[in-house]
Amino acid sequence: MREIGYYNGKMGNLNEMEIPMQDRALFFGDGVYDVASAWKGTFFALDDHLDRFYRSCSMLEIKFPLTREELKAELQKCLDAAESEEAAAVYWQSSRANCRRSHIFPKGDQKPTLLITVTPMKALDYSIPLKLTDIEDTRFLHCNIKTLNLIPNVLAAQRGEEAGCDEIVFHRGEYMTEGAHSSILILKDGTLIGPVQNEWILPSITRKHIFEAAEELGIPREERNITMDEFKDADEVIVCSTTKICAAADTFNGRPVGMKDRELFRKIQKAYFDRIFRETGWKL
Ligand code: PDD
Repeated sequence: MREIGYYNGKMGNLNEMEIPMQDRALFFGDGVYDVASAWKGTFFALDDHLDRFYRSCSMLEIKFPLTREELKAELQKCLDAAESEEAAAVYWQSSRANCRRSHIFPKGDQKPTLLITVTPMKALDYSIPLKLTDIEDTRFLHCNIKTLNLIPNVLAAQRGEEAGCDEIVFHRGEYMTEGAHSSILILKDGTLIGPVQNEWILPSITRKHIFEAAEELGIPREERNITMDEFKDADEVIVCSTTKICAAADTFNGRPVGMKDRELFRKIQKAYFDRIFRETGWKL
């Protein structure tokens, strides 16, 4: 497939694209983004991602100029240009404007920008469970907005990599929040449990789908704060996101974690993959 880059209507090969110097994404990270998966040219759950994107824009008072249908058309144009026969990640972001640096919102008619990339999405090998470590969550209280401000996530992901781990588990004191770039759920005594959705965590679309899959399977679900002790004692630890999809973890800080209810985990994971296959026509 071709890797595609797009900025305000101009599309080309990703490595050859450039953006203007005064984009507020560069000065302030003053923008929002979203990432959806596409399977052989067909988006999965695009409407969920668009709902969240427009919600993020409105929470930052970014008046994104394209209608939903116009944005969909631009995303599809980029995806088509990529000629992807595999799984692809379609990333898009909007910054408030391209204008002279000032903390105050621009007063002129500068419009929010649109940047899109289409890149291959590497599939995880689900036969190898993930290794995790923890980091105190010192992020701001806007983690429910998918903003470009990801420095704590970037630093945490790097610390995880240096510790030989696949993902980190953020916690605020004794409470687990989420990963640096994924959601974390647990299974305990046959119940699927996810942390309360508040300003501490991103409203993950994969998590929403996994909860829906569990509901269809008749698996009890709970949304409540999860302590790190509960996390360590979970029957299964599920790490999920648009790009990781639905993976299990078996190691936390070098010690065994989860892997005690394989059957239930596999049932949920299969149901979720089946939904992707059903909605996109994709087959492994
Ligand atoms: N990240 N929490 C955080 C902090 C994330 O960055 C992500 C996804 C998730 C999972 O959200 P979803 O299920 O909607 O993908 C949770 C994306 C993939 C990224 O930033 O690349």
